[in-house]
Amino acid sequence: MTTASLLILPGDGIGPEVMAEVRKIIGWFGDKRGIDFDVSEDLVGGAAYDAHGTPLHDDTMAKAQEVDAVLLGAVGGPKYDALDFSVKPERGLLRLRKEMDLFSNLRPAQCFDALADFSSLKKDVVAGLDIMIVRELTSGVYFGEPRGIFEEGNERVGINTQRYTESEIARVARSAFELARKRGNKVCSMEKANVMESGILWRDVVQEIHDAEYPDVELSHMYADAGAMQLTRWPKQFDVIVTDNLFGDLLSDLAAMLTGSLGMLPSASLGLPMANGRPKALYEPVHGSAPDIAGQGKANPIACILSFAMALRYSFDLGDEATRLENAVEKVLADGLRTADLLGEEGVTPVSTSEMGDAIVAALDAGL
Ligand code: IPM
Ligand code: MG
Repeated sequence: MTTASLLILPGDGIGPEVMAEVRKIIGWFGDKRGIDFDVSEDLVGGAAYDAHGTPLHDDTMAKAQEVDAVLLGAVGGPKYDALDFSVKPERGLLRLRKEMDLFSNLRPAQCFDALADFSSLKKDVVAGLDIMIVRELTSGVYFGEPRGIFEEGNERVGINTQRYTESEIARVARSAFELARKRGNKVCSMEKANVMESGILWRDVVQEIHDAEYPDVELSHMYADAGAMQLTRWPKQFDVIVTDNLFGDLLSDLAAMLTGSLGMLPSASLGLPMANGRPKALYEPVHGSAPDIAGQGKANPIACILSFAMALRYSFDLGDEATRLENAVEKVLADGLRTADLLGEEGVTPVSTSEMGDAIVAALDAGL
């Protein structure tokens, strides 16, 4: 592998703590597997605002465009609630997604056997669950114009616009079909074609791409509200779900919680291939900055560590090494190690963020 560059953006809240554990894992792959990364680090979100008065400095944006992959911790916190909308920590993340054109957001929801009891659903509903939500990430109501809060007569009106072009739908549909071929070969597309024109177009385009290019993949369509219901009723009926930006935001939180802990789930946001063939890419845990537990060593670093595993697989074509890391995580969980978010079993004392990181490194060693 040619030397790969990684930009690390720890961000806010528990971001820096969980990222410190990822650093250990990156170090391990360098020392023990000869997989070296050229790692640089910078600020995003509230941390960037504190330093520069903006949640993402232009220099950081430029760096993100140049590296092979960006690894982000989390952004936001109550400290920044009163800030003007345009400089809120979340704007930094949304700018990265938009300017890097990361249209395909992969959010796996996988239930680890050792954790099946943590779900709020019955064990047999979630045990062995392995689904992938592909969320469109650069368009839809998150970015559509017109938007804003305007005066109309003697009151204010808040406006956001749901907007999708055919090509935006087509490219995220292709990425879902490609993924499905490597998994269970099944895609369910979710929209609200019963109420929204953008939903009608979404359904049509997904079907056209399917018929023309992926007739071998099993395709179904569902209204997004019914999809939410089916996800809680019997989630194992799904393999890949493809949906728009806003529905994907909601459905992926729902799917995450099926697995028992938001602290476990990684994500990959992928764009078009760069000159070296690697896709533009940003990897981040699905969880947020958890300001209530920040700095206490309570955070679960697994989502961020598994996000790095996704980077190995999707940016660097190191699927076997990604599996090695995922197996190490599975092993420490099977051994009974739990961070504070995973308590509930009797007689289990939680391990700290860094003890969890160290245990995963030890499991990697043991697996050699
Ligand atoms: C997510 C988050 C973000 C989103 C926020 C932090 C802007 O909820 O990644 O799911 O709404 O996309
Ligand atoms: Mg969300």
